[in-house]
Order: sequence, then structure tokens, then C-alpha cells
Amino acid sequence: MQTYIKDILKTEPENQIIKVQGWIRTSRDTKNVCFFELSDGSCLKGLQVILDKAEDSLAALVPELHTGVSIEAEGVLVASPGGNQAVELQAKNLTVFGDAPADTYPLQKKRHSFEFLREIAHLRPRTNTIGAVTRVRSRMSFAIHSFFQNQGFQYVHTPIISASDAEGAGEMFQVTNLPLDKIVGSDAKEIDYTRDFFGKQTHLTVSGQLEAEIYALALKNVYTFGPTFRAENSNTSRHLAEFWMIEPEMAFCALEGNMAMAEEFLKYVIKDILENCSEDMELFNKWIEKGVADSLVKVVDSKFVHLPYTDAVDELIKAKKEFEYPVKWGTDLQSEHEKYLTEEVFKCPVIVTDYPKDIKAFYMKQNDDGKTVRAMDILVPRLGEIIGGSQREEDHDKLLGRIRELDLHEEDYWWYLELRKFGTVPHSGFGLGFERLIQYVTGMQNIRDVIPFPRASKTAEF
Ligand code: 4AD
Ligand code: MG
Repeated sequence: MQTYIKDILKTEPENQIIKVQGWIRTSRDTKNVCFFELSDGSCLKGLQVILDKAEDSLAALVPELHTGVSIEAEGVLVASPGGNQAVELQAKNLTVFGDAPADTYPLQKKRHSFEFLREIAHLRPRTNTIGAVTRVRSRMSFAIHSFFQNQGFQYVHTPIISASDAEGAGEMFQVTNLPLDKIVGSDAKEIDYTRDFFGKQTHLTVSGQLEAEIYALALKNVYTFGPTFRAENSNTSRHLAEFWMIEPEMAFCALEGNMAMAEEFLKYVIKDILENCSEDMELFNKWIEKGVADSLVKVVDSKFVHLPYTDAVDELIKAKKEFEYPVKWGTDLQSEHEKYLTEEVFKCPVIVTDYPKDIKAFYMKQNDDGKTVRAMDILVPRLGEIIGGSQREEDHDKLLGRIRELDLHEEDYWWYLELRKFGTVPHSGFGLGFERLIQYVTGMQNIRDVIPFPRASKTAEF
């Protein structure tokens, strides 16, 4: 078993000998002793280590003990006389592994901007905030799996390389091993994809949904949780080119069941983080987004508002507010509209349903009005859309009609259409952007700070 500082900090001090490893956060040298705070990333707080300079071999090491240095310390765990911590370690043996010269180590004891930290993504997990984000992200993944596993869902691994456009929006990165440098300049239509690795044009997937539907129509309730890719050139604080998505898919389930599941799911994972990451949540609550933890407690106890798109548009039209993008029936909601609805009108998460079919994906079930589809987006304060989902069109001919209307490559969807020929059932699902959820829970402003190595336009370092 490994020793973690988070466990040591909770241990009853009985002069036991312990050994601990980590990186020095801060150090302070006085006449007789040297103090330093050691972190191993297992929790926000570090362990205070004290070194008695009367011991010559220890005193000789003091000049080396500064911020960023990696060490192992062995010593006696005692109750700390200082008020800041319950226990501290009186070092008896110290090994220094690696120096971090003060004149070149970028992480000094001061607050660094998140922009600067993005440039040093190889070192930023050693900071308090990025460490806390990382622990929340890890715990959240676990909570997501727990939720679905407890509900009897099967975890399905959907492919990352795909020959069909799951959203029909064309925002895909191509995957090829053709010598593109030799092809560039020629007319794209002439590229012979039968010579390409897969014998056809392929892309990084934008969503695992279509393949998840295959498995839902066999195992009833399934979910995927994996990386997805979008070549949309939106340079915003809510968009990434590579992000993680959780996509449950449920057979014998209509839109109402889908919405109920999404609400229960969000509340479950939020509650789990409040309970299991309380120390990290205190940091976010105090320093990143004041009151974020308290607002989440309210969300867990709230009932999400259900609002048809048409009513949402009415709300926006009668708003006494100038929007950058004017609204009328048929336009997509922009994040300013989503924020207005959630922050100013309803002050809680809002599920908008029944969007116009022209602004939603081809696979959504058509309503009888001929104009709208059984879509649902969950909007939250501060962020806007966090979940997008729908009931799926289970009628073969209607689905085919939509694919043709939108001029999509019909032949790419043959298997998807065939699911509607053989044992079709009403079914529904949704996609939750994992990074948006982490932003929501932590209050972090920029999506690039809640994923270890952000990928966005012109950004692929590390
Ligand atoms: O609304 P979207 O595009 O829906 C789908 O992909 C469906 N196939 C989901 C389904 O029904 N199974 O994306 C779902 C969510 C969005 O609500 C948003 O949270 C997130 O994915 N998302 C992004 N997150 C970060 N960067 C981007 N570029 C994102 N695009 C979507
Ligand atoms: Mg969407």
C-alpha cells in the first residue's frame, strides 16, 4: 500500500515512523529548524515537515529544500503545536530526488494566471486549483460510472474512428494515411479513398450515439463515456476540439423518461462531488466562483423547469433586454439566451424541449406538427447548454425522408436505417459534455482549464 498525505493528515499521531514522498510547496528556514510543506497531490493540504538543524546531516540539506524540489522524508508523526494542522512530521532522514532551481522553476509561491498556467500544462497540475480540478474530474468519472452501473446500464465502447457523421453537421476531422502532401492541390473529388487505409473516407467521431443505439436495441439500457471530436472553429470558453461525452441510450423510453433520467443523473453526480470532494469544493466556493457549492446544494433539491422551445422564444421576445443575437421562432438559442432563461427568468436548470426540426439533428423524432422534434437541451446558469438529447426517430420511412431532405450520404447510414426495419422500438438518449459539467460544478471560467491537455484551434501542445 502506498502512503498518501491525505491519509496521513487524518492519522492519529502516536510518534509512529512514517515515510512520505512529494514536492515541496513552500519552505521557511529559521535559526534552529526548517519547515516545509510537502504535497503529493492526494489532497489540497500539504503535510508540514520539520527538520531539526542540530542534526548536521539534515542541516546540510536545508539550502536544497525550496519550492518544486522532489523528496522523500522519513520521520516521526507528532501532534502539531501550531494551529494550522493537526499533525506534522519530524524528519529523521531526507532524500532529495530532483532540484527545481528557483531562478528557472516557473511555479513560484504567488498566484499565476490560468492563461499562463496553460502554457506550462506539464507543471500546472502541481498548483492548488488544477490539482483540485483533477481530483474532482477523477471522482466525477467514478460517480458517473456508479450511477449508470447502479441503474443496470451496460458500458459500451463505441469507436473513435467512424465513417458516418453522427450529428450530420459536417464538423469532423478526417482520418487518413494517404500522403496528403502529394495530393494537396488536386481537386478533392478526385481523391481515391478506396486506396485509403479503411477503403473509404473516415473521421474522428463527433458522438458515439448511433453505435450506442445499436446496443440499446439489444441490451436495453447502455451508455458510452469517451472522447469525441469537433472541428468547429469556436474559440470560446465552452468549446473544445476534443472533449469527453457521456451518452446514455435507453430502449422503450420516450422523451419524458429521458428527461427524468438526465435530471436524476445530474443531481446524483453533483451530490456525490459535494460529499466526496468537500475540501476541493471549498476552494472553488471561496476563490473561483463565490458560492458555487451552495448553489449546487440548491440544484440538488430543485425541480428542473420544463419549457417548450416556443415558450422559451416568447420569454426571450418579451425580455426587457437587448440581446446581441435577436430571437425569433426558428433561430437557435445562443448562450446569452440560455443564460438569460436560467439566470434571470427561472434561476435554476431549465429543460427546453421540442425545438424546430431545422436546427436539430436528423435522427430526432418528428412531432405531429411537422415543424418540431422531440429534442431536449438542459441549460444551466453560468454556462447554458450542458446536455443535448432527444427521442430518436424509430420510423424507418420518416428517418430516411429526413436523411434525404438534408442531403446526407444515405449509404453511410444503411445500418442505422436497418435498425428501424428489425425490431424497432421507441428509444431516447442524451449527451452530457463532461468538461461542461466540471465547469459547472467547479465554477471554472474556461473549459481549457478543466481538461488536462486542451485541444482547440491552433492548440495541440503537450
Ligand atoms: O448537443 P450535442 O451535439 O449532442 C450530441 O452529440 C448527441 N449525439 C448526444 C446524444 O443525444 N447522445 O452534444 C452534447 C453535449 C452538449 O450539450 C455539450 O455539453 C457538449 O456535448 N459539447 C461540447 N463540449 C465541449 N466542446 C464542444 N465543442 C462541444 N460540443 C458539444
Ligand atoms: Mg447540442
